[in-house]
Amino acid sequence: MPEFDARPIADARTSPGPHAWDARQLPALIDGLVERGYYVGERFVDAGLCQSLFAEIEALEAKDALQAAGIGRGETHTLRRDIRGDAIRWLDRESLAQRRYLELMGTLQHEINAALYLGLFEFEAHFAHYPPGAFYRKHFDSFRGRANRVISTVLYLNADWPADAGGEMALFDEHDTEREVGRVVPEAGTFTCFLSDRIPHEVLPTHRARTSIAGWFRRNASLNNTLDPER
Ligand code: OGA
Ligand code: MN
Repeated sequence: MPEFDARPIADARTSPGPHAWDARQLPALIDGLVERGYYVGERFVDAGLCQSLFAEIEALEAKDALQAAGIGRGETHTLRRDIRGDAIRWLDRESLAQRRYLELMGTLQHEINAALYLGLFEFEAHFAHYPPGAFYRKHFDSFRGRANRVISTVLYLNADWPADAGGEMALFDEHDTEREVGRVVPEAGTFTCFLSDRIPHEVLPTHRARTSIAGWFRRNASLNNTLDPER
């Protein structure tokens, strides 16, 4: 077993630095990735950090600093509001909250590599804001054989998400892609991760503004002189 920070959450929540998360969930996260290809953990990230990240995306949205999200990468990037309706902004380490979250993901990258030898080597992430009515149709985050995105992550940022507000993320079976295997309520602190090229997923229409950070652990896929576009 990998070593990990197993301090109780009360301690983890009050101490500064990268451990603003419930490290006790790590063994279940690793097992989930191995056995099902995904993991969902409630209260995975400290409420205070989620609140700071939420305030940041609200401020970005208020000053119109988010951009409509597209599909495809590099040259094939296009806007398709019939497929996805969120607006995004890539994390740039500008705020303490961003740096803490990225540090936390760095710790997670290290732990996953130590347990599963996946050779994850970098992490990219963006804030995402889904206005009321927005959705993201069923998709994979990367394609087999070109799987530079290896593990997808999502952290939700809305505290007290109402049960009737929609906006859940539905996860589907890796072999039977019509079979829904899980539905994630986008409640602040809930964190999910899954294998990017295996697990189809979809954001159901949301009835209120929905905020999250979507991120990907990547392998370096710049091979044969073909530069892998960063975004
Ligand atoms: C994505 C995505 C899911 C979510 O950005 O690729 O699938 O719940 N997001 O926000
Ligand atoms: Mn996705």
